[in-house]
Amino acid sequence: MKIPLVDLQSQYASIKAEVDSAIQQVIDRTAFIGGEGLELFEAEFAAFCEAKACVGVGNGTDALSLALRALGIGAGDEVITVAHTFIATTEAISMTGAQPVFVDICEDTMLMDPGKIEAAITPRTRAVLPVHLYGQPCDMDRILDIARRHHLKVVEDAAQAHGARWKGRRTGTLGDVACFSFYPGKNLGAYGDGGAVVSNDETLIQKIRMLANHGRLDKYTHEMEGVNSRLDGLQAAILRVKLRRLDGWNAARCRHAARYAGALRDVGVVLPAVNPNAEHVWHLFVIRSRERDQLQVRLKDKGVATGVHYPLPLHRQPAYRHLNLKPGSLPVTERVASEILSLPMYPELTEEQTAFVARAVAGV
Ligand SMILES: Cc1ncc(COP(=O)(O)O)c(C=O)c1O
Repeated sequence: MKIPLVDLQSQYASIKAEVDSAIQQVIDRTAFIGGEGLELFEAEFAAFCEAKACVGVGNGTDALSLALRALGIGAGDEVITVAHTFIATTEAISMTGAQPVFVDICEDTMLMDPGKIEAAITPRTRAVLPVHLYGQPCDMDRILDIARRHHLKVVEDAAQAHGARWKGRRTGTLGDVACFSFYPGKNLGAYGDGGAVVSNDETLIQKIRMLANHGRLDKYTHEMEGVNSRLDGLQAAILRVKLRRLDGWNAARCRHAARYAGALRDVGVVLPAVNPNAEHVWHLFVIRSRERDQLQVRLKDKGVATGVHYPLPLHRQPAYRHLNLKPGSLPVTERVASEILSLPMYPELTEEQTAFVARAVAGV
């Protein structure tokens, strides 16, 4: 048996007729940029997030940088985030002219440690940017409490957490603004690049809509200089087809996660911890092992593909050498990065496949 880390082909096969027809309709109407399909998707995705407003943008990285810009964050400002994430999180901060400031993560959930935030706040701090990594929301009660007391904005990086909930509320409504990626492998993935910003602040979303479309409200009036970062008509049409299935797909991921957790309970690996206040959507199922590299090779030999998200924390990346953060400066982040292994996770996995993966991990 060969089991990939993600399988976009089996998903396409299950929705082919609907997706093909949605694509053809966009081409027939030549509605490539903007238009009704995009507006419908934005309304439907806002409703899915149980939020007031949504704007589609070119990708998740732009979603983050435009949200930060719209909040007035720029040169001279600092934004507190984690180093255990994809580089897009901090690229977006740097794109505004601000500087990322890293805090460590919690040992169990591998998410931002709220207990580390206050020590990182300086007179330049303007925002906290928690990353709901792997599909699990961060501890938003504690993060919001600190942010409110210090008059900081909270920008959620929800690129991996479409549909996840914290105390019953969906990502997208937990902070001031939330940013999503529709990169193909995400829980809601386009057939190319795409992203969205969601918020209950309709004025803020309107500002992001302007920034993402050359700073204009109408065709020939530019209120400000913006960028070109729009979700295109084809992607919106495909995403509308897929959004209707997202709750079902997330539920399937939860079933696979429960099966993995049951089968791997006593095999000597650390299982992912879920905060009791969180409803995880399992973008990735990440186990930990001190013998991670050997385990990854053993799984590969048995036909099981795995990944490491992410092997080198951002503060140790060459791109951030100017921050001069030495090894040991974020001890939990560094330890976790050397031990994590992502197992195959996608809605279409079968029971037979999850059992096969679990047996391969257990070495039987
Ligand atoms: C945590 C995180 N933030 C931001 C991004 C950026 O999204 P995109 O690739 O759509 O720019 C991604 C995904 O790639 C991500 O995983």
